[in-house]
Amino acid sequence: MDDVASAKVRLPVARFRDASEASKRVAHEIARLIRQRASENRRCVLGLATGSTPIRVYRELVRMHREENLSFFNVVTFNLDEYFPIKPESPQSYHRFMNENLFNHVDIIRSNVHIPSGTVPLENAPGYCRDYEDLILKFGGIDLQLLGIGRTGHIGFNEPGSTRDTLTRMVRLDSLTRKDAAKDFGELDRVPLLAITMGVDTIMQSKRIRLLAFGEHKARIVQQALQNRMSSALPASYLRQHPDMQYLVDGAAASCLPPSIFGTSLQ
Ligand code: F6R
Repeated sequence: MDDVASAKVRLPVARFRDASEASKRVAHEIARLIRQRASENRRCVLGLATGSTPIRVYRELVRMHREENLSFFNVVTFNLDEYFPIKPESPQSYHRFMNENLFNHVDIIRSNVHIPSGTVPLENAPGYCRDYEDLILKFGGIDLQLLGIGRTGHIGFNEPGSTRDTLTRMVRLDSLTRKDAAKDFGELDRVPLLAITMGVDTIMQSKRIRLLAFGEHKARIVQQALQNRMSSALPASYLRQHPDMQYLVDGAAASCLPPSIFGTSLQ
């Protein structure tokens, strides 16, 4: 981490040497939280993301489970989103992603894992989404929400146009998001048009938010999310209102940010 960001102040943006270093930082924060809760006989509720960005976080958590006795016995998870429609066993499904990158390798209790359904009948989706919200509340809310950011400025699949008060719901994917997903699906036409996602408000209710962004292709949107006017045109901009939110970025993703942003108030 660079000199400014390593100062002992809680900063909203921390720049790291590379994605590995930033991912380890978040993984270790998650591990501390899990262990602290376990020592108090309490559960730890995690909000989880998929995509290329959090993979190293999951890798480090799996390593800590194997080598440092980190147990997921007290962990409850809620994933942000899932394509719709999609079968859980489909190679692009977020169910499969989470199993392959995390859940198959740790001792989490399967009934504590929650991922939005890609197969719920369309007419039942509104009720299903309300139940997802209720379940998060029943578990006492999300203690730490892990996020990536899409090039449209989406968090979860809250695309431009998603207002601050949105909750879990069915959404239409932005054309840029579908284009970015085309490599996973083989071709653009195979990328689903819809998804179920937690809303902006669902995410904002989390007690802590940690957003990771890596690579040059994220530089522009990171800069806009932090410096443009807060609005539904850029849903990630709402995160600036959160009292315990941190961006963890590598040098490439930080490349459009002015040096003065490290350590300044973002409001
Ligand atoms: C994934 C999610 C998305 C991704 C975003 C970035 O669950 O909610 O918001 O975080 O699209 O994706 P990657 O990490 O693949 O660049």
